[in-house]
Amino acid sequence: MTQADAHPFHLLLGTCDYPEHVPQDRPPVYARMQRDLGLSFVRLAEFAWSRLEPLPGTFEWGWLDDAVEAYHAEGLRVVLCTPTPTPPAWLIRAHPEILAFDAQGRVREFGSRRHYDFASPLYREHSRRITRAIAERYGQHPAVAGWQTDNEFGCHATSRSYGGASAARFPEWLRAKYGTLDALNAAWGNVFWSMEYTDWAQVRPPILTVTEVNPSHVLDYNRFASDMIREFQAEQVELLRELSPGRFVTHNFMIFESGFDHYDVARGLDFVTWDNYPTGMLELFAPPGIGEDLKTRYARTGHPDLVGFNHDLYRGLLSGNGRLGRDALGRDGAGTPNGPWVMEQQCGQVNWAPYNPMPADGAVALWTAQAWAHGADVVSYFRWRAATMAQEVMHSGLLRHDETPDRGFEEVAALDQTAFPVGPVPARVALLHDYESLWIYDQQPHAQGLNYWTQTVTYYMALRRLGIDVDVIHADADLSGYAVVVAPAITLVSAGRAARWTDAVNAGTRLVCGPRTAFRTPGGETWPDGQFGPLSELVGARLLQYDSLRPTLPQTVSGAGEGDLGGTFEASTWAESYRLNGAQALAHYRGGPLDGQAAVIRRGNVTVIGAHSDTLIGAVLEGVLGAAGVPVLPVPEGVRVSRRAGKLLVQNWNPEAVDWNGTTLPPVSFVVRPDDAGQPLEGEQDA
Ligand code: GAL
Repeated sequence: MTQADAHPFHLLLGTCDYPEHVPQDRPPVYARMQRDLGLSFVRLAEFAWSRLEPLPGTFEWGWLDDAVEAYHAEGLRVVLCTPTPTPPAWLIRAHPEILAFDAQGRVREFGSRRHYDFASPLYREHSRRITRAIAERYGQHPAVAGWQTDNEFGCHATSRSYGGASAARFPEWLRAKYGTLDALNAAWGNVFWSMEYTDWAQVRPPILTVTEVNPSHVLDYNRFASDMIREFQAEQVELLRELSPGRFVTHNFMIFESGFDHYDVARGLDFVTWDNYPTGMLELFAPPGIGEDLKTRYARTGHPDLVGFNHDLYRGLLSGNGRLGRDALGRDGAGTPNGPWVMEQQCGQVNWAPYNPMPADGAVALWTAQAWAHGADVVSYFRWRAATMAQEVMHSGLLRHDETPDRGFEEVAALDQTAFPVGPVPARVALLHDYESLWIYDQQPHAQGLNYWTQTVTYYMALRRLGIDVDVIHADADLSGYAVVVAPAITLVSAGRAARWTDAVNAGTRLVCGPRTAFRTPGGETWPDGQFGPLSELVGARLLQYDSLRPTLPQTVSGAGEGDLGGTFEASTWAESYRLNGAQALAHYRGGPLDGQAAVIRRGNVTVIGAHSDTLIGAVLEGVLGAAGVPVLPVPEGVRVSRRAGKLLVQNWNPEAVDWNGTTLPPVSFVVRPDDAGQPLEGEQDA
């Protein structure tokens, strides 16, 4: 039995449809077309509150009943949503205290979506009420496969409200955490600039201060806001579990969203889904390492690694070590996938980036194949038919406004879903991520052009250029079984975290850390004994200097020729050096104020890279992977490889053909091959 045979289920497809936007005779027609296209799932009703409950307490289910029946009749399985991203006008005008406040302290008005404060007790009540109503109505309907809570928490900068209900609840949250004001003042270092509080009511959200706000204040506000989202969703999940037994509950997370702790909020869901818009992502989220030339090159596909990173991040959100067990392959054996999904997959132009180029021929198929290879069990396209009204008329769907099939439709029609067997992603390398490190890092980046995501994605891209599959996992996740663990920007390291990393290293895992690792305590201060705090012994060094490099002041690093690291590298934005206490230097700074000081150090299985440099990071990682026995497969620009369920997906994201490894890869294309060199998971061969 081959590995692929051991996984009889394959990728399934779906779409997001809006029966409330069209005349009632359309859903039966759409359902038939969707079935003929080979779709299995349809997501409905995430913004439909004003049509479900047009007046307080008056429900109109008829249109949704008919739509659900229409999809059911064609064998589609329905994902229903709680419509809470869009509280209707009657509710907001009666209770304006539901509205949230922006970072300028202004009310965020009714008239689009996501206009609510997660902490509002009144809105919580209405969220539970509408969730109960829709779950009572459809919870046991045979067509309903599962639920999506709300829609894209945090979209349009809505994770945090800086006034109203959140401002009122924050002191209470702090009191529960710290008990006394003395403890709060000590934890935040409020003696600095006389910021000490003598009454809980004096504490406000961290906005509109004269100059920089206290980073520890921000860190706690972000934790608080994240807790409000977790609580808000948990109330819905509890009701859905009660009223819709046997159905999954998920949420659709967003590209590089930073506003809340996704690990925490995802707990309690059956699996995670996310919304994948590759061209918009490139326009809005490209780090400085992806300059204008690459933005142009990938304008019609998006950048493979920005997309890949999000797939790997969301695959790892719930799975502890990011690996799907065989149990994940179909609740009840009927092929309802439990793995991660792409709930919204771009299938044409988007409407929200500065430029919205038409995707290249082949891009929709390539995105779908990549999603599969990175662990998605379902890819669901946004949206079925292009909207004919309101904010998103410029956005494409599988159908054009006039209901004729658009370009993406044709690509979906041509896909052979059975070419994509469901199964594990055999990553032997983990990349660590943690939202608290992100928050505190970005509060004091100290060098323009560098931030948490940039530093993290730079390491991810270096791994992908070496042809490595990566699990992105939480910095406190179980590290056992990984040959190499990379911690690009985990600046917040508690004693417990340090102990877990130390255990993994002692058990044989190789650890590679980027700059600023273990610079901070969980409270956001520096360690009193300096970087690396509780990791100092393991690393065998302490921080000596750090330098913030303007673009006109690059820093040269030269390898000592030891540990496979020779040559000269150019660092930009950040350079930090170390005092050695057991570690050896693999590279030194040359010139500038750090001249002669250690830039890359190693003690046993632990390597630290102090300088920000693509080429240096790539060279160090290649050496470590080699030493760990993880085979690398360096790929040319825009070519990527990903492995899943015994298959190797070779992708060409370039707008031109590429000759590689004896094959010509056409522009914007992919090929699925057996993964001859694949590293099966332990025990996998016996499946
Ligand atoms: C997503 C959102 C959808 C739609 C889409 C457009 O962020 O969930 O409702 O707005 O973007 O690209």
